[in-house]
Amino acid sequence: MTEKEITEEIRERIKKIKEEFEEEIKKSKSEEDIKRAKSKFLGKKGLIQELFKIIPQIKEEEKRKEIGKLINDLKEYIEEKTKYESESQILILKDEEIPDITLPGRRGFLGSLHPITITLQKIILIFEKMGFEVEHGPEIEDDWHNFTALNIPPDHPARDMQDTFYLEDGRLLRTHTSPVQIRAMLKRKGILPVKIIAPGRVFRRDFDATHSPVFHQVEGLFVDRKVKMSELFGTLDFFFKKFFGEKTKVRFRPSYFPFTEPSAEVDVSCLCEGRDKNCKVCKGSGFLEVAGCGMVHPEVFKSVGYENVQGFAFGMGVERLAMIKFGIKDIRLLFGENFSAFKKRFL
Ligand code: DAH
Repeated sequence: MTEKEITEEIRERIKKIKEEFEEEIKKSKSEEDIKRAKSKFLGKKGLIQELFKIIPQIKEEEKRKEIGKLINDLKEYIEEKTKYESESQILILKDEEIPDITLPGRRGFLGSLHPITITLQKIILIFEKMGFEVEHGPEIEDDWHNFTALNIPPDHPARDMQDTFYLEDGRLLRTHTSPVQIRAMLKRKGILPVKIIAPGRVFRRDFDATHSPVFHQVEGLFVDRKVKMSELFGTLDFFFKKFFGEKTKVRFRPSYFPFTEPSAEVDVSCLCEGRDKNCKVCKGSGFLEVAGCGMVHPEVFKSVGYENVQGFAFGMGVERLAMIKFGIKDIRLLFGENFSAFKKRFL
């Protein structure tokens, strides 16, 4: 055979193989079929390899290159096509799976997160970055976890029927998230450090423009061998600056809580920075109360059997933080049904 005849024949074979491949693909019904076709053409002993073997028979370099390219193009074509076909196989639907495109569409719902959810997420994210773990406790509590273990004596006003929702069986709806401190310490059986926050719903018999019978708190507790009050101040200062902005001033005032000693109340600077004497948010004082805190009372450690430890705790109201952050004057807007009006104004 002359050189010309050889190249012509190869050309012819390339064309045939391509046609054969197209046939094969057309017939394929499953990924298996495509795999089989792939190995028939591209496999080690496949038809393409056979073609490559002929190339050395062509003496003329130009022709050799030309034929080499033709075989390569076919090889690439088969690779692409089998890849595409096997991917699209996944999309092939059985009859019963084919959607009825004549059906009317379903209405999409517009929505956004509730400001309390946004606020909670922000709070949790900041504390998690500081290494606090998230703990949860039950909303229905017993007297011991909610009061006694927290050094709240039986005659303390917080136990008053006015404030607490009692169930018929003597249990109650937790009035704060502080009982989670007790549960977290008992659960860890003295393994230090205890470093938790406890977000959740709490309940009190109270309802006006700034009080809701159901609201949210985030509790914090840090217990280790040695814990200083400056660490408490540093933690809360860092938190409120991250939450409200770096310019925020954080102030601690002496206060009283049965479960901490010493105790403090935490104020943050108002957006008006105290410059607006008629400011409705801070009433001209320049500061807003946002949390209670202190060093864990020895009686609290006693009730969970912890010895030779120190700790700090804090509790903050989530609605209050949300109201300050979003400039909401009436807490009822957060729970009312007219939520879309709220969203238009604040979010
Ligand atoms: N439990 C308190 C309340 O509901 C808030 C609180 C104050 C929590 C001081 C604390 C704390 O952990 O140390 O008003």
